[in-house]
Amino acid sequence: MDRDLLPEEFQRFHDLIYRTAGIHYPAEKVSLLSNRIRKRLHATRTRSYTDYLALLQSPSGATEQQAFLDSVTTNETYFFRCQRHWAFFREWAQQRAQDPAARREGFRIWSAAASNGAEAYTIAIVLHQVLGPDFGGSRVEVLGTDLSAQILDEARAARYRPHATAQTPPPVLQQYFTKTASDQLQFDPRLAKVVRFQRHNLMDPLAAAPFDFVFLRNVMIYFDGPSKQRVLRHAFEVTKPGAYLVVGESESLMNVEQPFVYRKPSIFQKPARAAEPAGQARR
Ligand SMILES: C[S@@+](CC[C@H](N)C(=O)[O-])C[C@H]1O[C@@H](n2cnc3c(N)ncnc32)[C@H](O)[C@@H]1O
Repeated sequence: MDRDLLPEEFQRFHDLIYRTAGIHYPAEKVSLLSNRIRKRLHATRTRSYTDYLALLQSPSGATEQQAFLDSVTTNETYFFRCQRHWAFFREWAQQRAQDPAARREGFRIWSAAASNGAEAYTIAIVLHQVLGPDFGGSRVEVLGTDLSAQILDEARAARYRPHATAQTPPPVLQQYFTKTASDQLQFDPRLAKVVRFQRHNLMDPLAAAPFDFVFLRNVMIYFDGPSKQRVLRHAFEVTKPGAYLVVGESESLMNVEQPFVYRKPSIFQKPARAAEPAGQARR
């Protein structure tokens, strides 16, 4: 197949992706989507877009559905992405570490749309720096979730190409990574053990104990208003009162009806008490 999707084919794939993952492919991305689907056509030896759609919808298509979703998602990520967010998280962790009751309660953090785990492991690094060896005896739990099973396998392997750590300060690189024989960087397993990965579609509620802090970054750019609203409602259900939510720097929640309160650019909070007026969302 050497042509892009025709408008009608594009619409059918668009609707399937939107229904399953909430991801909205605008019409101008037809070439990008066509290229991604062509790779699956090649991998499955399917001759046409229509045959591939039939395969996805057939009873034997379940495995291919996962591979298809893996191929239409964008997984770009790296350690210490957006320094401002990490400064904010570090300050939050330092304050919490000074509160004996909170310290006893521990630190439960969610890296939603975790991709290859760079964000979840950055959380572990910052908490380790703040709390000290063995996390100062505090219970630390980081959950990384993503739609893509393939990228989660990479996350569990915790091995990275050097460009994933381009924003990582050299002393951090030295302390928390070791070079492998193939010149990749292996993240420290003593820290990796506090991070758990699980497949989860943000369009669905997450069955989990509530979190103290949620990173939901650089995924809502692919969602339209109703999908963003749905994801934020689900996130609200699994956050503790007073918990923070950080979204990607370029992700506007302007005009999205959602329950978090705006604090500063890309940083939101669940009201500590029911009385505080919740977010008629800004920014
Ligand atoms: C660009 S990466 C963001 C990674 C990281 N949060 C960051 O900011 O660097 C976007 C991730 O969102 C995931 N994703 C897309 N749609 C999703 C959905 N409906 N549910 C869960 N994850 C989704 C993709 O698989 C991809 O790994």
